[in-house]
Amino acid sequence: MQTFRALITEISPEGKASTALKSLPFTFLPESDVLIKVAYSSLNYKDALSASGHKGITRNFPHIPGIDAAGVVVSDLSGKFQTGARVVVTGFDMGMNSHGGLSEYIRVPANWVIEIPTQLPTRIAMQWGTAGLTAAMAIDALITNQLSPNMGDVLVTGSTGGVGMISIRLLSHLGFSVVALSGKPALEESLKKLGALRVISRQQFAEEPLRALYAMEYAGAIDTLGGNYLVQVVKRLQYGGSVAVCGMAAGVELPMQVYPFILRGTRMLGIYSAESPLSYKHAMWEKISDVWAVDLENICQEIKLEEVPFVLEDMIAGNTSGRFVVKI
Ligand SMILES: NC(=O)c1ccc[n+]([C@@H]2O[C@H](COP(=O)([O-])OP(=O)(O)OC[C@H]3O[C@@H](n4cnc5c(N)ncnc54)[C@H](OP(=O)(O)O)[C@@H]3O)[C@@H](O)[C@H]2O)c1
Repeated sequence: MQTFRALITEISPEGKASTALKSLPFTFLPESDVLIKVAYSSLNYKDALSASGHKGITRNFPHIPGIDAAGVVVSDLSGKFQTGARVVVTGFDMGMNSHGGLSEYIRVPANWVIEIPTQLPTRIAMQWGTAGLTAAMAIDALITNQLSPNMGDVLVTGSTGGVGMISIRLLSHLGFSVVALSGKPALEESLKKLGALRVISRQQFAEEPLRALYAMEYAGAIDTLGGNYLVQVVKRLQYGGSVAVCGMAAGVELPMQVYPFILRGTRMLGIYSAESPLSYKHAMWEKISDVWAVDLENICQEIKLEEVPFVLEDMIAGNTSGRFVVKI
């Protein structure tokens, strides 16, 4: 019987999740259109949640995690892709309740698959992955809502994370002056090298006495933390400023009044890269491979499938930084 290797998360009878590399039969993969030989995957916070058995992400186990994959088409029942085409899949249900990209092979619907732009190497596509696509969509949303470099500082929270670091790199490439909020003082210099003009302490920010509004500091923001951090960000936006709301690394509640919206016309722009229309994802990949191409080598570590479970544990504990590209 033909088999392939994949990381698989199982839940013990006691309810404990564990993730290990195993050989699986091809019948383990779902029936679907496109069989892809994965060359690279990448790690995102959602993978850490899925591999820790978080039922809000993955309901059924055993499960192959991995919301990102890039590789080569082996076969396609839909006829949309030729054998050998270089393709990328990010989000939709992959790695959530459909088996994911931390695997030598995936089988997915054709309408989840995008052909990688010719000038973008497969490995670089996974340096970006969902984190990069999200950063790109957040910046695109801010620009669409009238943010331009001459309007003032742009704040990025969760700035040593995947979304945060790519946001800083790309914003600075596009001429914005970026302020990074981070809980990791040891990485201040790395954030400045990436393009942040200033780094402010996450701990100090969280301890500010609560007010209905603060001084208007930022023309725009990208928030990956949620909760009280997002509240503080909204209250510091300039008139008409927007925050792209990407994540909830610190919390999901939003305890605040409406003042910033009705007294300053501020806006919250929700970003959800996973279910964005394929055409929009495609447009973002085109930009990433062209006018928005930035070097992410310094913030990426390449790891093997075997190393993934350890990194995912560190990610849940908040001890990782930057991007992890997984060579399959
Ligand atoms: N909306 C979307 O489409 C989309 C797509 C991708 C990711 N996301 C979400 O965006 C968030 C960030 O994703 P990521 O891939 O960048 O994650 P990540 O690489 O794990 O980074 C998260 C960063 O947030 C900060 N952080 C972590 N835990 C925290 C806590 N308990 N309290 C305060 N700060 C904390 C840390 O930065 P500092 O130490 O520098 O502060 C950390 O590096 C996650 O919630 C993820 O689910 C959403």
